[in-house]
Amino acid sequence: MDRSIKIAPSILASDFANFGAEIRAIEAEGCDWVHVDVMDGHFVPNITFGPDTCKAIRPHIKTVMDVHLMIAPTDQYLKAFADSGADYLTIHVEAGPHLHRSLQYIRDLGCKAGVALNPATSASSIEYVMDLVDLVCVMTVNPGFGGQKFIHSQIKKVKEIRKMIGDRDIHIEIDGGITPETGPLMAAAGANILVAGSAVFKGGSVENTAPYGENIRAIRDASEAVR
Ligand code: DX5
Ligand code: ZN
Repeated sequence: MDRSIKIAPSILASDFANFGAEIRAIEAEGCDWVHVDVMDGHFVPNITFGPDTCKAIRPHIKTVMDVHLMIAPTDQYLKAFADSGADYLTIHVEAGPHLHRSLQYIRDLGCKAGVALNPATSASSIEYVMDLVDLVCVMTVNPGFGGQKFIHSQIKKVKEIRKMIGDRDIHIEIDGGITPETGPLMAAAGANILVAGSAVFKGGSVENTAPYGENIRAIRDASEAVR
């Protein structure tokens, strides 16, 4: 499978009044995926938006719509998010008692299935669902907010998950605190999808998109260099 480094800007760090233009800008500036953070104010202490917003932004995304659900419970909302046009639907290990069933359901709905692990959650928590996932998301901050500090202890977890994956077609995605300094640590440990919010959108705007491109290239170049 293609394990080249892919940069997935999180629109959590973009202008919420201008999602369409922000998405077109980051894609024009060379991002690979668009990361969409859904928060419910219950599983995490922040609220963003739901499936209707995902559906509204879908036509603006030409690459891959990577929806990160920080919600609990998940199951009764999965169909609405699948219908919104998500390519990847990622749920948290910690979000409910029936992870195996929920992941099967995501695939039944026609989406790629992702599973996310909070910083305190062990790699072993996903041992028995490895054949049900297309993506494992290792959180390198506690989910809920952008702009937090990268948690270095997660490097060991990424190495463990890389071993567990073996030759399965599963992406390892890293989410939280990714910069040109931390991206390479994760690329070296085995990750290939790097989510970045603040580090991509800093210094730019829809009127001045060049910094988005520079930021994306800085993370990609530094991370590819350690491969
Ligand atoms: C955190 C979100 C992340 C966040 C990353 O709960 O899941 O996707 O936007 O933001 P940065 O890159 O600023 O840490
Ligand atoms: Zn996220």
